Amino acid sequence: MADIELIELSKIYDNGYQAVKPSNLRIKDKEFMVMVGPSGCGKTTSLRMIAGLESISAGEIRIGGRRVNDVQPKDRDIAMVFQSYALYPHLTVYENMAFALRLRKVPARQIHEQIVAAAEMLSLTSQLEKLPKALSGGQRQRVALGRAIVRKPQAFLFDEPLSNLDAKLRGEMRYELRRLQQELATTAVYVTHDQIEAMTLGDRITVMSVGEIQQVAPPRIVYDWPFNRFVASFIGTPPMNFLPGQLSDSGGAWTATVAGHKLPLTMANRDNLGRAKEGGIVLGIRPEHLHPAATAPAGSPSVPMRIDVVEHMGDHQYVYLRAEGLKDAMIMKAPGMIQLTVGESAPIHIDTSHAHVFQGAGEHAPNITLPQGFPQQQ
Ligand SMILES: Nc1ncnc2c1ncn2[C@@H]1O[C@H](COP(=O)(O)OP(=O)(O)O)[C@@H](O)[C@H]1O
Ligand SMILES: [Mg+2]
Repeated sequence: MADIELIELSKIYDNGYQAVKPSNLRIKDKEFMVMVGPSGCGKTTSLRMIAGLESISAGEIRIGGRRVNDVQPKDRDIAMVFQSYALYPHLTVYENMAFALRLRKVPARQIHEQIVAAAEMLSLTSQLEKLPKALSGGQRQRVALGRAIVRKPQAFLFDEPLSNLDAKLRGEMRYELRRLQQELATTAVYVTHDQIEAMTLGDRITVMSVGEIQQVAPPRIVYDWPFNRFVASFIGTPPMNFLPGQLSDSGGAWTATVAGHKLPLTMANRDNLGRAKEGGIVLGIRPEHLHPAATAPAGSPSVPMRIDVVEHMGDHQYVYLRAEGLKDAMIMKAPGMIQLTVGESAPIHIDTSHAHVFQGAGEHAPNITLPQGFPQQQ
């Protein structure tokens, strides 16, 4: 069992800056947990505390039920993979992978078997005698992975391991990492600022902002039920549209009024809006839930908008829209074959069955019930 528990874990650096506010998180055995958030939100600090490379200011870390606050990094039985591959330049691929095992006096035959197996898994079999400088960036990152795999650790910790690769290679490595994770079935904590990596790799995602956990859930849930506006804006490309408006309730029939237009809210969990207050809200609509008339769901309300810019992506297009009374441009994702003329005005339908409502100081979603123990953010 190698579940990893963070209990009221926090980090204050020597200069007094609190990089991680008291955080609670339980990463399950064999789970691939992605910690995602903008640069500077405390991801690396959290990971380094788990690895034992950074001291803990308060709280506790448990790995496999054992408190490890005072356990040396080398005795925590975890392997870390960094953005910089950190390979030994003068050692061959084989020797790079063998290094940690030799230090631990693992028998040569066993080292050999583990390297052959890892190389096979990572398509490195024909590269074993090369020096790192003879490899491509993607291959070097695979060697770094191989070096972690051969140690058969209780858990893998990844710190933005794909950030140095170009977009195409990143896509390939994402696929390989996911495949490896299924094959190895080892607990992993994977840190990234890239929400696409988070969505594609994570069994669950922990979304962070300024040292604080915002939401912990499987990718689909984070996308469909973001707890607050921060999560809603961070996950999803292009990002969710935010429309300031007013919420009103007439006998359980909730209506959002946006720029003078009344939008009846028909979302599935509308009943929970009982926890909302009438008054100011921000309505969140993902680009795929805005529709031109041709593809609009029956009965969905519409608002006239001017078509500002169209970006053709092949099978779909991103359409930038302006509505009177709304400051920000909105983005609609529409099927590629629909003809839209820049400069013209068109009724744009809003699928309010997929709307999100954000309210209050913490801009949380009052129609979503937070799990027990989760800080309410009003
Ligand atoms: N050694 C340090 N001393 C003081 N502040 C630090 C130190 N290391 C990181 N920080 C600060 O802590 C915050 C979190 O850093 P980090 O965990 O590296 O963020 P992330 O990995 O999410 O980009 C940042 O504001 C960073 O500037
Ligand atoms: Mg970092």
